[in-house]
Order: sequence, then structure tokens, then C-alpha cells
Amino acid sequence: MQQINLPKASALTSPNPVTLVCTPKPDGTTNLATVSWWTYLSFNPSMIAYAMAKTSYSGEMVRGNKKVVLTIPGAAIKDAVMGCGMSTGRDTNKAEKLGIEMQSIPGSDIQIPTHTRVAIHCTLKEYHEVGDHYLYICNVDQVFADENEEALFAWNGYARIATAKQGE
Ligand SMILES: Cc1cc2nc3c(=O)[nH]c(=O)nc-3n(C[C@H](O)[C@H](O)[C@H](O)COP(=O)(O)O)c2cc1C
Repeated sequence: MQQINLPKASALTSPNPVTLVCTPKPDGTTNLATVSWWTYLSFNPSMIAYAMAKTSYSGEMVRGNKKVVLTIPGAAIKDAVMGCGMSTGRDTNKAEKLGIEMQSIPGSDIQIPTHTRVAIHCTLKEYHEVGDHYLYICNVDQVFADENEEALFAWNGYARIATAKQGE
């Protein structure tokens, strides 16, 4: 075997998961950020976790109001999913700029993209510093799904967004 670094490993484990982290902004709109580093943690109780760079605007939002929806985006918005990972919501409404149609979900005032396969509505339980990221550990409040939406993945590390079939 060859010795490699962790970024190279993340390319070799492609496809990796991809989610759009939806957090509420003070103006009532939703900020959308592309995040690959998320995982299920526990089914009983239902818990998930994700890691975001300390500088991310999404992190600031969830540390402030504790509410977040992780969404698995559908194939129709694959270009926009890449776009949500290339800019910060600090000074931009990404949904508007990238033309992402939004919908409401029951029990939450956080809007999410219409083209969503799975939406996991969470409350932040705790967060921890992990190197250059914070790890956000969340209790899951509700989960919604639309099985007609085809899930997207991150390919070649984080260089390309495509469905499992498109990526082959
Ligand atoms: C495919 C892809 C995957 C990404 N995964 C992560 C991730 O897991 N964690 C992270 O902090 N940033 C990740 N990013 C970068 C963030 O999406 C990016 O820093 C974004 O600008 C953060 O937006 P915000 O400042 O509005 O929160 C990823 C970007 C792309 C394109």
C-alpha cells in the first residue's frame, strides 16, 4: 500500500455523502451550505452529526438558534448544490441567487429546497472543536422523505456533484 494524506483518502472513498445544511437567517430566509461530512450517530434516540469549518456562517447560525435541517438534495439541483459550497450566506441569499425553489415542512419555520430526497429536522445538542472544524451533534426532531427525488453524492473528493448513476 502507498502512504497518502486524508484529502487524497476522501477522493478515494468517493462517492461521499452530500447534504445541504439549512439554517434560518435573521431575515427569515434560509441559508444553504453544502456539507459532505455528516453521519448518522444513533437510532435510539435519533441523532446525527456534521462538521463545518469554524468560519462558516451556517455554524454561526446554528450555534445561535440551535435549529437546523439537513437535506439530501435531489438530482434537479446538482449545479446549485455545488454553488452553495462556493459562497457564504453571510452576504448572499444563495437560494435566490442560484434559483433554488424552496418549500415549507411541517413543524419548522426553516424552508428547505423543493427538490429534496430526505430532510432531517434537528436541534443542536452540543458542539465540539475538532481541529479546524466544529462538530455539531444534534437530536433529530422529525424526518421527511420524497422517494421520487434521486439522491446526489460528492464525487472525486468534493470536485463534482452527481447521482450514483451519473457519477459512474
Ligand atoms: C461538495 C462540497 C462538500 C463540502 N463539504 C463541506 C463540509 O463537510 N464541511 C464544511 O465545513 N464545508 C464543506 N464545504 C464547503 C462549504 O459548503 C463552504 O465553506 C460554504 O461557503 C459554507 O457556507 P456558509 O458560510 O454560508 O455556511 C463543501 C463544499 C462542497 C462543494
